[in-house]
Amino acid sequence: MGFHSLFLSTILISYVSLGTSTLESQNFTSSPNDLKALTGFSSCLKSAIPDWNSSASPDYCTWSGVTCVETRVVFLELGNTKLTGKICESLASLDQIRVLNLSHNFFSGSLPDNLFHLQNLEVMDLSNNYFEGSINTVVCSSFSLLRVVKLSYNSFSSKIPGNMGNCSSLQHLSLDGNDFSGNLPESIFQLQNLKELYVQDNKLSGQLSKGVGKLSNLVELDISYNEFSGILPNIFGSLTRLKFFSAESNRFTGQLPTSLVNSLSLEILILRNNSLNGSINLNCSAMKSLTSISLASNQLLCPSHGSLSNCSRLEAINLAHINSKCEISDDFKNLKFLTQLSLSNSSLHNLSTSLQLLSHLRNLSTLVLTNNFHNEEMPQPQDQNIEFTNLKVFVLGNSQIKGSFPKWLSGCKKLQMLDLSWNHLSGSIPSWIGKFNNLYYLDLSNNSFTGYIPQSLAMVLSLQFSNFSLQEGTHFAFPILTSGKVYLYKKVSSFRPSLLLSYNKLEGPIWPGFGNLKGLHVMDLKHNSLSGPIPWQLLGMTMLEILDLSHNKLSGEIPQSLIQLSFLSSFDASYNQLHGEIPTKGQFLTFPPTSFEGNRGLYRPSSSGFMPSLPDETRAQPHHKKLEIINDFPFWFGALAGFLITIAMCFV
Ligand SMILES: *[C@@H]1O[C@H](CO)[C@@H](O)[C@H](O)[C@H]1NC(C)=O
Ligand SMILES: *[C@@H]1O[C@H](CO)[C@@H](O)[C@H](O)[C@H]1NC(C)=O
Ligand SMILES: *[C@@H]1O[C@H](CO)[C@@H](O)[C@H](O)[C@H]1NC(C)=O
Ligand SMILES: *[C@@H]1O[C@H](CO)[C@@H](O)[C@H](O)[C@H]1NC(C)=O
Ligand SMILES: *[C@@H]1O[C@H](CO)[C@@H](O)[C@H](O)[C@H]1NC(C)=O
Ligand SMILES: *[C@@H]1O[C@H](CO)[C@@H](O)[C@H](O)[C@H]1NC(C)=O
Ligand SMILES: *[C@@H]1O[C@H](CO)[C@@H](O)[C@H](O)[C@H]1NC(C)=O
Ligand SMILES: *[C@@H]1O[C@H](CO)[C@@H](O)[C@H](O)[C@H]1NC(C)=O
Ligand SMILES: *[C@@H]1O[C@H](CO)[C@@H](O)[C@H](O)[C@H]1NC(C)=O
Ligand SMILES: *[C@@H]1O[C@H](CO)[C@@H](O)[C@H](O)[C@H]1NC(C)=O
Ligand SMILES: *[C@@H]1O[C@H](CO)[C@@H](O)[C@H](O)[C@H]1NC(C)=O
Ligand SMILES: *[C@@H]1O[C@H](CO)[C@@H](O)[C@H](O)[C@H]1NC(C)=O
Repeated sequence: MGFHSLFLSTILISYVSLGTSTLESQNFTSSPNDLKALTGFSSCLKSAIPDWNSSASPDYCTWSGVTCVETRVVFLELGNTKLTGKICESLASLDQIRVLNLSHNFFSGSLPDNLFHLQNLEVMDLSNNYFEGSINTVVCSSFSLLRVVKLSYNSFSSKIPGNMGNCSSLQHLSLDGNDFSGNLPESIFQLQNLKELYVQDNKLSGQLSKGVGKLSNLVELDISYNEFSGILPNIFGSLTRLKFFSAESNRFTGQLPTSLVNSLSLEILILRNNSLNGSINLNCSAMKSLTSISLASNQLLCPSHGSLSNCSRLEAINLAHINSKCEISDDFKNLKFLTQLSLSNSSLHNLSTSLQLLSHLRNLSTLVLTNNFHNEEMPQPQDQNIEFTNLKVFVLGNSQIKGSFPKWLSGCKKLQMLDLSWNHLSGSIPSWIGKFNNLYYLDLSNNSFTGYIPQSLAMVLSLQFSNFSLQEGTHFAFPILTSGKVYLYKKVSSFRPSLLLSYNKLEGPIWPGFGNLKGLHVMDLKHNSLSGPIPWQLLGMTMLEILDLSHNKLSGEIPQSLIQLSFLSSFDASYNQLHGEIPTKGQFLTFPPTSFEGNRGLYRPSSSGFMPSLPDETRAQPHHKKLEIINDFPFWFGALAGFLITIAMCFV
């Protein structure tokens, strides 16, 4: 006995999901109760679990996912095993079970009430399934041992269960990603051991109760993406262990509570996208642990001069879309650990001074300043001492900045993402841009750049490999504003590798060397004055999804080699001076006629089997017998054919 309980505590401590592990004695005597419970559970599944066969292998302790102690089932761990079906009542007969993990499967239906009354259950993970319905039962019976309950990412609805007062051992509760509505029930606030409470991404509403302040052991609280409203209660003084608080994308109003801006423990504070007002009066003398704040998209007043200077541990600041005039002031110089800063659309002025101040921050790697500094001049190194050695992301679009390409960027050897779109920059694009080995997203569209596309861009290393990896220390979803749109990505690497040079005055050729860019997904060169042929070598861009060459002066034929670009889903060569046959294989079956219009001599060969249609005036060349016009080409047919080809290729 003593041996077994010792053994049990060892496995409970060191258990790391090894699949089946059995502790049964050599002479197996099954528990009829557990056998019945497991076979009952299995009978409600739509497909059998392969090695669960009581006639072939009566010892259920050897079945996958089952762990026994003395023939009694203590762990049932079937996470991520593609199970479909419902959970039957019989499962709740496993009265010795401690860990039940059915997460990441395709279970549906509602949960049997008695599942919540298992006396020995400590961990219940049912997350990432299709469970639905409401949970009306008393969640824990008295003396419950339940420590972890994860019901995230299902379709549970109605109210959060109100009978949780007996769950006195509960440390972790995640209900995120469901359709729970109403408010947090008061019984939750009795859970003195609760450390992590995740209810984000539901439809919870009403005021946030002051009761939250009773959860004195809380370390992480996420109530983001709900419909909470009213003011944030001033309860953070009693949450002395709270490190993470996110309430982003709710409807909170009023000011930041005093106890919040004086929290000694808080490390990450995310309140973006609410209707908070008043000043950002962080007491940096108190907030010694604070590393990240996101207060963007509120009606807050920018921190006044000097007020951030003592928050010297800050690593990430997002104050974008704050409805007041911000300033990058001297105190930013003290933020020595700052790696990410977004101040998009915050009425900033004086680009030159701002960049000079920020270049004191040696570790700055993400700088997002879109929609500011309107009509100012891009500073150049001869005017100012600007140097960023660790910059990886620089986004300054939509600001009508004048002048030439910023020369100080040449020192940013680690640059991965550069967006200077929607400005009035002119002159040529420097050839040193090709030396950024990590560059994978370049947007210079909608400026007045002239001259040739630098040939060196064909040498950008990270675009030459289809699977490159980017390391970045992202503290929270960091909104990056590009060309008038807000993309909210957790990682910068969620952007597709892109070369965006449209709406400029670029001339000269499309370099054959671009065929080296095996990792490029989007190439947009439309609305320039590029001339010469479309190089056949572009077939080397094997990952390419979008190729837009429209509104240029390109001549020659569309190379047949491009039919090999099997991921190409959008191609536009309209309004050029192209001639010859339009390729009719591969993805070219799917492109609409508009992709080719506005070219003098492009035609579809009649042998291609497409429906003939009447020539239009621009392409009417009656002497050409093979001529067929593409304008009325049935798009759905092409799309279907392309789809079938793609499917076929997937199977090859
Ligand atoms: C198994 O049971 C048999 C008969 O009951 C007994 O002779 C044998 O010693 C047992 N083996 C073990 C390992 O307990
Ligand atoms: C279980 O095992 C028995 C005996 O090996 C076999 O006849 C039967 O088909 C198995 N059942 C399933 C569902 O695999
Ligand atoms: C449940 O199983 C899944 C998949 O095996 C695993 O990722 C998850 O961490 C487990 N849950 C708990 C609470 O251990
Ligand atoms: C605690 O459990 C007991 C017994 O199951 C039950 O009668 C009681 O209502 C529960 N208390 C709460 C607050 O849920
Ligand atoms: C902002 O919050 C609202 C809910 O208050 C939500 O509907 C919207 O999607 C959020 N916007 C962003 C960009 O997160
Ligand atoms: C903040 O908003 C509330 C209403 O939401 C309003 O009563 C209050 O005057 C506002 N305060 C400031 C400083 O704008
Ligand atoms: C700021 O925090 C310090 C240290 O906790 C405290 O002494 C001071 O009173 C606080 N200031 C304000 C204005 O709350
Ligand atoms: C910064 O901290 C110092 C020392 O703790 C204090 O004297 C000063 O007033 C603080 N500055 C601001 C703006 O809070
Ligand atoms: C800029 O911020 C203001 C609020 O200050 C908002 O109304 C506007 O939509 C934002 N502009 C963009 C492009 O996001
Ligand atoms: C800058 O980053 C490096 C490496 O990430 C780190 O060792 C260093 O302490 C940081 N410097 C400052 C001032 O934060
Ligand atoms: C920018 O700031 C510097 C120093 O504060 C000042 O000399 C310069 O005139 C400012 N420029 C503009 C355009 O406001
Ligand atoms: C170019 O930028 C201007 C703002 O500078 C914007 O109004 C316009 O829509 C943009 N044009 C295109 C084609 O993106």
